Amino acid sequence: MSKIIVGIIYGGRSNEHEVSLRSAASVFKRLDRSRFEAKTIYIDKNGVWRWVEIPESFITDNDASLPIMTSAPEVVLLSKGVFSFQDQKNFGRKEKVDVMMPMLHGKNCEDGTLQGLFESAEVPYTGSGVLGSAIGMDKEISKRLAEIAGIPIVPYRVAHSWDSKEKILALLEDAEKNLHFPMFIKAAREGSSVGVYKVKTRDEFVSKISEAFKYDQKVLIEQAIEAREIEFAVLQNADRSKLPLVSIPAEIVPSGGHEFYSYDAKYNDENGAIVKVPAEISQSLTQKLTQLVQNIFIALELEGYARIDLFLDKNSTPEKPVFYLNEVNTLPGFTSISMFPQLWEASGTPYTELLTKLLDLALLRSKG
Ligand SMILES: Nc1ncnc2c1ncn2[C@@H]1O[C@H](COP(=O)(O)OP(=O)(O)O)[C@@H](O)[C@H]1O
Ligand SMILES: [Mg+2]
Repeated sequence: MSKIIVGIIYGGRSNEHEVSLRSAASVFKRLDRSRFEAKTIYIDKNGVWRWVEIPESFITDNDASLPIMTSAPEVVLLSKGVFSFQDQKNFGRKEKVDVMMPMLHGKNCEDGTLQGLFESAEVPYTGSGVLGSAIGMDKEISKRLAEIAGIPIVPYRVAHSWDSKEKILALLEDAEKNLHFPMFIKAAREGSSVGVYKVKTRDEFVSKISEAFKYDQKVLIEQAIEAREIEFAVLQNADRSKLPLVSIPAEIVPSGGHEFYSYDAKYNDENGAIVKVPAEISQSLTQKLTQLVQNIFIALELEGYARIDLFLDKNSTPEKPVFYLNEVNTLPGFTSISMFPQLWEASGTPYTELLTKLLDLALLRSKG
């Protein structure tokens, strides 16, 4: 039987370019080579797609990132997964992939746009579709849909870049009265804690809202919750008559002096957070949260896989736990130490098998 050709696409124009290089490297190394063959497509920081040939020796090189290849030949995606080479040297050359595996994050990657391109090109791809990706990227739309489905969310307000000074001041008064300081100000469609601020005073509120507008025209103002951060990894069930599969829970404890799980805590400080797998929560609460996570996956139209992050209010009691949806990630990090694969590993699905499942789900969806 001939092997299925997987196009690992990585890089991208977002702030999360470097994370992507590492996720893609892990996937490249650990894909099941008895069934799949890997090809790599790099989107450089200017948004140009490039065909990259990775040497086989790379597979044994332990903690490398996939390379930044700004000189690799430019390609464009035609229909049915065919890539056409654009440079003179490779004139007329074409390469075909059977399924695309996006390993990049943020704008133009995780928000449904790339998924739309794959749909129009009629090439199968892993993860959520156009709608689920777009919903997952937008923290406000996610909240609205979750709320309608009866999923608890953190109290919030929305500010837009076109709001008048008076409107922002009215929002501040409303927030002070009904949400209370401290609050979180967040760009609505970012990731990796980019454009996320904890504010404790009126002055900070006003200055951080304008800071957040540098990242997005839409900004969320949220009540700060004194919370334990509990995360789950979810996989769509290949059997469509069954609910999504949910991993054991993990807990992220920001540490090393970080007040919350900020960009620095995530990427610039080895001691930025303590990760507990599994989270120390009771069996009955785990069961309750597992159901909640299944409902979230369905309510937000997610497909394939996602990481779902919850808040468990530290001030609530074990008898009456209070929890909220924080956010969902439709293209979570995929390095071998990333939370998503780590949670599945701890739940009995090793990394390589997990990749196979994602690819099988992609191929299954493409059959309709
Ligand atoms: N309402 C909130 N209450 C308490 N902490 C929060 C709140 N919102 C965000 N945080 C903190 O900020 C981090 C990043 O926010 P999050 O909404 O997850 O954005 P991102 O998509 O960038 O990860 C969270 O992991 C958490 O530590
Ligand atoms: Mg987050």
